[in-house]
Amino acid sequence: MNDPMGVFCPDFLVGKTALVAGGTSGVGFGIAKALFSYGANVAVCGRDAAKAEAAAHSLGVIDGRALGLSADVRQPEMIAAAVAQCVGRFGPLDIVVAAAAGNFVVAAEKMSPKAFKTVIDIDLLGCFNVFHAVFTHLRCPGASLLAISSGHATRPVAGQIHASAAKSGINMLVKGLAVEWGPAGIRTNALVPGPVAGTEGMARLLPTDQLAGYVSSLPLRRLADVNEIASAALFLASPAASYINGAILECDGGSRL
Ligand code: COA
Repeated sequence: MNDPMGVFCPDFLVGKTALVAGGTSGVGFGIAKALFSYGANVAVCGRDAAKAEAAAHSLGVIDGRALGLSADVRQPEMIAAAVAQCVGRFGPLDIVVAAAAGNFVVAAEKMSPKAFKTVIDIDLLGCFNVFHAVFTHLRCPGASLLAISSGHATRPVAGQIHASAAKSGINMLVKGLAVEWGPAGIRTNALVPGPVAGTEGMARLLPTDQLAGYVSSLPLRRLADVNEIASAALFLASPAASYINGAILECDGGSRL
Protein backbone atom coordinates (compact mmCIF):
# COMPACT_ATOMS: atom_id res chain seq x y z
CA MET A 1 0.00 0.00 0.00
CA ASN A 2 1.28 3.46 -0.87
CA ASP A 3 1.09 5.03 2.56
CA PRO A 4 4.22 7.15 3.00
CA MET A 5 2.98 8.82 6.18
CA GLY A 6 1.94 5.52 7.70
CA VAL A 7 -1.38 6.97 8.78
CA PHE A 8 -3.59 4.07 7.76
CA CYS A 9 -1.63 1.11 9.06
CA PRO A 10 -3.97 -1.17 10.97
CA ASP A 11 -2.81 0.09 14.35
CA PHE A 12 -2.41 3.79 13.69
CA LEU A 13 -4.73 4.69 16.56
CA VAL A 14 -3.05 2.49 19.15
CA GLY A 15 -2.43 4.55 22.28
CA LYS A 16 -5.07 7.13 21.27
CA THR A 17 -8.33 7.62 23.11
CA ALA A 18 -11.68 8.48 21.55
CA LEU A 19 -14.99 9.47 23.08
CA VAL A 20 -18.10 9.15 20.93
CA ALA A 21 -21.19 10.86 22.35
CA GLY A 22 -24.24 9.33 20.73
CA GLY A 23 -22.00 6.36 20.02
CA THR A 24 -24.33 3.55 21.01
CA SER A 25 -26.15 3.18 17.68
CA GLY A 26 -26.32 4.30 14.07
CA VAL A 27 -23.60 6.48 12.59
CA GLY A 28 -22.05 7.18 16.01
CA PHE A 29 -21.64 3.48 16.72
CA GLY A 30 -20.24 2.91 13.22
CA ILE A 31 -17.61 5.57 13.88
CA ALA A 32 -16.84 4.08 17.30
CA LYS A 33 -16.31 0.68 15.68
CA ALA A 34 -13.94 2.10 13.07
CA LEU A 35 -11.88 3.97 15.69
CA PHE A 36 -11.75 0.83 17.84
CA SER A 37 -10.75 -1.40 14.94
CA TYR A 38 -7.73 0.81 14.21
CA GLY A 39 -6.55 0.45 17.79
CA ALA A 40 -8.02 3.37 19.76
CA ASN A 41 -9.40 3.12 23.26
CA VAL A 42 -13.05 4.02 22.73
CA ALA A 43 -15.72 5.25 25.13
CA VAL A 44 -19.26 5.20 23.76
CA CYS A 45 -21.74 7.42 25.51
CA GLY A 46 -25.54 7.37 25.30
CA ARG A 47 -28.61 8.16 27.36
CA ASP A 48 -29.41 4.53 28.07
CA ALA A 49 -26.89 2.87 30.40
CA ALA A 50 -27.77 -0.68 29.31
CA LYS A 51 -27.46 0.25 25.64
CA ALA A 52 -24.10 1.94 26.29
CA GLU A 53 -22.83 -1.13 28.11
CA ALA A 54 -24.04 -3.41 25.30
CA ALA A 55 -22.39 -1.19 22.67
CA ALA A 56 -19.08 -1.27 24.54
CA HIS A 57 -19.30 -5.05 24.84
CA SER A 58 -19.94 -5.47 21.16
CA LEU A 59 -16.87 -3.33 20.42
CA GLY A 60 -14.74 -5.66 22.51
CA VAL A 61 -14.84 -4.49 26.11
CA ILE A 62 -13.14 -7.74 26.96
CA ASP A 63 -9.66 -6.47 26.11
CA GLY A 64 -10.20 -3.31 28.12
CA ARG A 65 -10.19 -0.82 25.27
CA ALA A 66 -13.93 -0.11 25.24
CA LEU A 67 -16.02 1.66 27.81
CA GLY A 68 -19.78 2.30 27.94
CA LEU A 69 -20.89 5.54 29.57
CA SER A 70 -24.36 6.85 30.19
CA ALA A 71 -25.15 10.55 29.97
CA ASP A 72 -27.68 12.81 28.28
CA VAL A 73 -25.88 15.43 26.16
CA ARG A 74 -28.52 17.95 27.29
CA GLN A 75 -27.14 17.74 30.84
CA PRO A 76 -23.69 19.38 31.14
CA GLU A 77 -23.07 17.83 34.57
CA MET A 78 -23.75 14.33 33.25
CA ILE A 79 -21.42 14.90 30.31
CA ALA A 80 -18.70 16.26 32.60
CA ALA A 81 -19.03 13.15 34.79
CA ALA A 82 -18.84 10.84 31.75
CA VAL A 83 -15.77 12.66 30.45
CA ALA A 84 -14.13 12.35 33.88
CA GLN A 85 -14.84 8.60 33.88
CA CYS A 86 -13.35 8.20 30.42
CA VAL A 87 -10.24 10.25 31.24
CA GLY A 88 -9.86 8.40 34.54
CA ARG A 89 -9.80 5.11 32.66
CA PHE A 90 -7.83 5.95 29.51
CA GLY A 91 -6.11 9.32 30.09
CA PRO A 92 -6.33 12.44 27.89
CA LEU A 93 -8.59 12.44 24.84
CA ASP A 94 -7.31 12.53 21.28
CA ILE A 95 -10.57 12.21 19.34
CA VAL A 96 -14.03 13.37 20.35
CA VAL A 97 -17.12 12.81 18.22
CA ALA A 98 -20.43 14.56 18.97
CA ALA A 99 -22.97 12.34 17.23
CA ALA A 100 -26.03 12.50 19.47
CA ALA A 101 -29.16 13.57 17.64
CA GLY A 102 -32.90 13.62 18.04
CA ASN A 103 -35.33 14.01 15.20
CA PHE A 104 -38.91 13.64 14.05
CA VAL A 105 -40.79 14.99 11.08
CA VAL A 106 -43.39 17.59 11.95
CA ALA A 107 -44.82 20.56 10.05
CA ALA A 108 -43.69 23.94 11.39
CA GLU A 109 -47.20 25.07 12.34
CA LYS A 110 -47.77 21.85 14.27
CA MET A 111 -44.40 21.90 16.04
CA SER A 112 -44.71 22.93 19.68
CA PRO A 113 -42.08 25.26 21.12
CA LYS A 114 -40.99 22.38 23.33
CA ALA A 115 -40.57 20.08 20.34
CA PHE A 116 -38.39 22.69 18.60
CA LYS A 117 -36.37 23.22 21.78
CA THR A 118 -35.93 19.48 22.32
CA VAL A 119 -34.07 19.03 19.04
CA ILE A 120 -32.04 22.23 19.49
CA ASP A 121 -31.11 21.02 22.98
CA ILE A 122 -29.99 17.57 21.84
CA ASP A 123 -28.27 18.45 18.56
CA LEU A 124 -26.82 21.93 19.02
CA LEU A 125 -26.51 22.45 22.75
CA GLY A 126 -25.53 18.81 23.13
CA CYS A 127 -22.66 19.29 20.70
CA PHE A 128 -21.52 22.39 22.57
CA ASN A 129 -21.84 20.60 25.92
CA VAL A 130 -19.64 17.73 24.74
CA PHE A 131 -16.91 19.88 23.19
CA HIS A 132 -16.96 22.31 26.12
CA ALA A 133 -16.64 19.47 28.63
CA VAL A 134 -13.66 17.87 26.90
CA PHE A 135 -11.61 21.00 26.23
CA THR A 136 -9.37 20.77 29.29
CA HIS A 137 -8.96 17.01 28.82
CA LEU A 138 -7.65 17.03 25.25
CA ARG A 139 -4.15 15.91 24.38
CA CYS A 140 -2.76 18.92 22.54
CA PRO A 141 -1.51 19.58 19.97
CA GLY A 142 -3.13 17.00 17.77
CA ALA A 143 -6.63 16.55 19.19
CA SER A 144 -9.51 16.19 16.76
CA LEU A 145 -13.14 17.13 17.39
CA LEU A 146 -15.84 15.98 15.00
CA ALA A 147 -19.51 16.97 14.93
CA ILE A 148 -22.18 15.22 12.89
CA SER A 149 -24.11 17.74 10.84
CA SER A 150 -26.73 17.27 8.14
CA GLY A 151 -27.46 18.37 4.60
CA HIS A 152 -30.58 19.98 6.06
CA ALA A 153 -28.30 22.60 7.62
CA THR A 154 -27.99 24.25 4.24
CA ARG A 155 -30.87 22.76 2.21
CA PRO A 156 -34.16 22.94 4.09
CA VAL A 157 -36.85 20.30 3.69
CA ALA A 158 -40.40 20.31 5.05
CA GLY A 159 -40.88 19.01 8.56
CA GLN A 160 -37.32 19.68 9.62
CA ILE A 161 -37.01 23.29 10.78
CA HIS A 162 -35.81 22.18 14.23
CA ALA A 163 -33.08 19.92 12.84
CA SER A 164 -32.12 22.38 10.09
CA ALA A 165 -31.71 25.19 12.62
CA ALA A 166 -29.74 22.97 15.00
CA LYS A 167 -27.44 21.56 12.34
CA SER A 168 -26.74 24.95 10.75
CA GLY A 169 -25.82 26.07 14.26
CA ILE A 170 -23.44 23.12 14.46
CA ASN A 171 -21.78 24.17 11.19
CA MET A 172 -20.98 27.58 12.66
CA LEU A 173 -20.06 26.14 16.07
CA VAL A 174 -17.46 23.98 14.36
CA LYS A 175 -16.05 26.89 12.39
CA GLY A 176 -15.93 29.09 15.48
CA LEU A 177 -14.10 26.44 17.48
CA ALA A 178 -11.70 25.89 14.58
CA VAL A 179 -10.69 29.54 14.95
CA GLU A 180 -10.70 29.69 18.75
CA TRP A 181 -9.11 26.34 19.55
CA GLY A 182 -6.92 25.95 16.47
CA PRO A 183 -4.04 27.80 18.18
CA ALA A 184 -4.01 25.07 20.86
CA GLY A 185 -3.56 22.46 18.14
CA ILE A 186 -7.17 21.28 18.20
CA ARG A 187 -8.88 20.66 14.86
CA THR A 188 -12.67 20.88 14.77
CA ASN A 189 -14.65 19.63 11.79
CA ALA A 190 -18.12 18.43 10.87
CA LEU A 191 -19.21 15.50 8.78
CA VAL A 192 -22.43 15.53 6.78
CA PRO A 193 -23.60 11.96 6.23
CA GLY A 194 -25.87 11.29 3.30
CA PRO A 195 -28.74 8.81 3.59
CA VAL A 196 -27.41 5.81 5.52
CA ALA A 197 -29.04 2.39 5.25
CA GLY A 198 -30.41 0.82 8.39
CA THR A 199 -30.27 3.87 10.64
CA GLU A 200 -33.00 5.26 12.86
CA GLY A 201 -32.59 8.60 11.09
CA MET A 202 -33.53 7.08 7.73
CA ALA A 203 -36.46 5.25 9.25
CA ARG A 204 -37.71 8.46 10.81
CA LEU A 205 -37.20 10.70 7.80
CA LEU A 206 -38.27 8.54 4.87
CA PRO A 207 -41.45 6.45 4.72
CA THR A 208 -40.66 2.92 3.48
CA ASP A 209 -42.98 3.25 0.49
CA GLN A 210 -40.91 6.19 -0.77
CA LEU A 211 -37.54 4.49 -0.36
CA ALA A 212 -37.19 2.91 -3.82
CA GLY A 213 -38.11 6.14 -5.63
CA TYR A 214 -35.70 8.11 -3.47
CA VAL A 215 -32.82 5.69 -4.02
CA SER A 216 -33.35 5.76 -7.79
CA SER A 217 -32.95 9.55 -7.66
CA LEU A 218 -29.53 9.39 -5.98
CA PRO A 219 -26.39 9.84 -8.12
CA LEU A 220 -24.91 6.54 -6.88
CA ARG A 221 -28.33 4.83 -6.95
CA ARG A 222 -27.85 3.47 -3.44
CA LEU A 223 -27.83 4.46 0.21
CA ALA A 224 -24.58 4.73 2.14
CA ASP A 225 -23.29 1.89 4.23
CA VAL A 226 -22.52 3.13 7.73
CA ASN A 227 -18.88 2.05 7.26
CA GLU A 228 -18.52 4.56 4.44
CA ILE A 229 -19.46 7.37 6.81
CA ALA A 230 -17.15 5.91 9.46
CA SER A 231 -14.27 5.91 6.95
CA ALA A 232 -14.72 9.63 6.36
CA ALA A 233 -14.75 10.21 10.12
CA LEU A 234 -11.61 8.13 10.46
CA PHE A 235 -9.92 10.27 7.82
CA LEU A 236 -10.89 13.52 9.56
CA ALA A 237 -9.54 12.19 12.86
CA SER A 238 -6.32 10.97 11.30
CA PRO A 239 -2.98 12.67 10.67
CA ALA A 240 -3.90 12.55 6.96
CA ALA A 241 -6.31 15.40 7.76
CA SER A 242 -3.82 17.31 9.90
CA TYR A 243 -4.39 20.57 8.01
CA ILE A 244 -8.17 20.24 7.78
CA ASN A 245 -9.82 22.49 10.35
CA GLY A 246 -13.27 24.09 10.31
CA ALA A 247 -14.38 21.96 7.37
CA ILE A 248 -17.88 20.68 6.74
CA LEU A 249 -17.24 17.47 4.81
CA GLU A 250 -20.17 16.06 2.85
CA CYS A 251 -20.00 12.27 2.64
CA ASP A 252 -23.30 11.87 0.84
CA GLY A 253 -22.61 10.16 -2.46
CA GLY A 254 -23.57 13.42 -4.17
CA SER A 255 -27.16 13.18 -2.89
CA ARG A 256 -27.14 16.94 -2.23
CA LEU A 257 -26.86 17.52 -5.98
N1 COA B 1 -44.00 14.94 16.37
C1 COA B 1 -44.26 16.12 16.96
N2 COA B 1 -43.80 16.48 18.19
C2 COA B 1 -43.01 15.57 18.80
C3 COA B 1 -42.66 14.32 18.24
C4 COA B 1 -43.20 14.02 16.96
N3 COA B 1 -42.94 12.86 16.35
N4 COA B 1 -41.84 13.66 19.11
C5 COA B 1 -41.68 14.48 20.17
N5 COA B 1 -42.39 15.61 19.97
C6 COA B 1 -42.54 16.72 20.89
C7 COA B 1 -43.34 16.29 22.09
O1 COA B 1 -44.72 16.31 21.82
C8 COA B 1 -42.90 17.30 23.14
O2 COA B 1 -43.51 18.54 22.97
P1 COA B 1 -44.91 18.93 23.74
O3 COA B 1 -44.70 18.53 25.18
O4 COA B 1 -45.02 20.42 23.55
O5 COA B 1 -45.98 18.17 23.06
C9 COA B 1 -41.45 17.54 22.78
O6 COA B 1 -41.27 17.13 21.42
C10 COA B 1 -40.52 16.72 23.62
O7 COA B 1 -40.92 15.36 23.50
P2 COA B 1 -40.44 14.26 24.55
O8 COA B 1 -40.93 12.93 24.07
O9 COA B 1 -40.79 14.71 25.92
O10 COA B 1 -38.85 14.38 24.39
P3 COA B 1 -37.76 13.38 24.75
O11 COA B 1 -36.59 14.17 25.12
O12 COA B 1 -38.23 12.32 25.68
O13 COA B 1 -37.52 12.63 23.34
C11 COA B 1 -36.42 12.50 21.28
C12 COA B 1 -37.34 13.33 22.15
C13 COA B 1 -36.22 13.20 19.96
C14 COA B 1 -35.10 12.36 21.96
C15 COA B 1 -37.06 11.11 21.06
O14 COA B 1 -37.96 11.16 20.00
C16 COA B 1 -36.05 10.04 20.83
O15 COA B 1 -35.62 9.40 21.77
N6 COA B 1 -35.61 9.82 19.61
C17 COA B 1 -34.63 8.77 19.30
C18 COA B 1 -33.41 9.34 18.76
C19 COA B 1 -33.61 9.98 17.45
O16 COA B 1 -34.52 10.77 17.27
N7 COA B 1 -32.76 9.67 16.52
C20 COA B 1 -32.85 10.24 15.22
C21 COA B 1 -31.51 10.50 14.72
S1 COA B 1 -31.63 11.36 13.17
